[in-house]
Amino acid sequence: MPLILGIETSCDETGVGLVRDGVLLGDALASSVAEHARFGGVVPEIAARAHLEALTPMVDQALAAAGVRLRDVDAVAATAGPGLATAVQVGLAAGKAYAVALDVPLYGVHHLAGHAAVDVLEHGPLPPRCVALVVSGGHTSLLLLGDLARDPVVHLGDTVDDAAGEAFDKVARLLGLPYPGGPVIDRVARDGDPRAIAFPRPMTGPRDPAYGFSFSGLKTAVARWVEGHDGPPPVADVAASFQEAVADTLTRKAVAACREYAADTLLLVGGVAANSRVRGLAEERCAAAGVRLRVPAPRLCTDNGAMIAAVGDLLVRAGAAPAPLTLGARPSAVL
Ligand code: KG4
Ligand code: ZN
Repeated sequence: MPLILGIETSCDETGVGLVRDGVLLGDALASSVAEHARFGGVVPEIAARAHLEALTPMVDQALAAAGVRLRDVDAVAATAGPGLATAVQVGLAAGKAYAVALDVPLYGVHHLAGHAAVDVLEHGPLPPRCVALVVSGGHTSLLLLGDLARDPVVHLGDTVDDAAGEAFDKVARLLGLPYPGGPVIDRVARDGDPRAIAFPRPMTGPRDPAYGFSFSGLKTAVARWVEGHDGPPPVADVAASFQEAVADTLTRKAVAACREYAADTLLLVGGVAANSRVRGLAEERCAAAGVRLRVPAPRLCTDNGAMIAAVGDLLVRAGAAPAPLTLGARPSAVL
């Protein structure tokens, strides 16, 4: 069976993974998250430079972890988009260089398909049709997935403004909590009452797109509430109530999509899938709707190289045509 080298550089993680026949042999991850902390968000140029520095060491580390040699690699898969243009370009260029040097085929991978496909490494093959909710710092997308190696990824809906993770990060910032805000809000919210403040559920009106999302209004609602409150804000209650609004909106729409498209499986993936309330509510609502919920382990939920190798592995095993070396980065949301 072919050995696939996967490379992920769409945002601030430099990920390299080695997969053979649905099995993750080894991976390595470097993050420039600390370098972006003082800017409150990812700075594309800093991310790109960090990828450049980290890529070769991460390839070496992943090879060592997998106990294989570079010359054993049979195909290279690299994220082609969506993502930060300059960041994607670094990984894609490296992927091309490895493919040429090793004289093996190159595959350009849809980053969101990667977030879904990573679950194959943990829980086995995906059903012929499933819905994926990809919620991270960069994306909030509801996808309808068929055969990942043959069918295009269908976007049922995306956020029209901030991504869910971005909303977590921005709300954390206005509460004076550190970046990245998601894990901190998750932790702080444990001591709060999710019903303390009735924040809006954006994009859930009768005329709103069924599967669209919007989080910037929610963030503004939190900011207004904090401004209008005398004295220091009750951080735990604000965090818990905000988190409840996000979890409610995300899971309501995801389960509705499973019903409409007769998908018996919901994949919950991306950094925000690590959120305890999003997971808890998804479990509850999926159980009530007779939908199977699949959530990869937290370390595979965030950006990594294994997820890109997982798609490469599906493509190679399905006999898909490799990408030409002229393949360019596709930064926008739809590939
Ligand atoms: O998938 P990811 O590592 O990178 C991309 O953005 O593609 O996701 C990172 C995002 C950040 O916004 C972070 O705040 C959020 O995921 N996140 C969380 C949690 N852990 C990470 N958000 C809510 N609750 C969490 N436990
Ligand atoms: Zn991602």
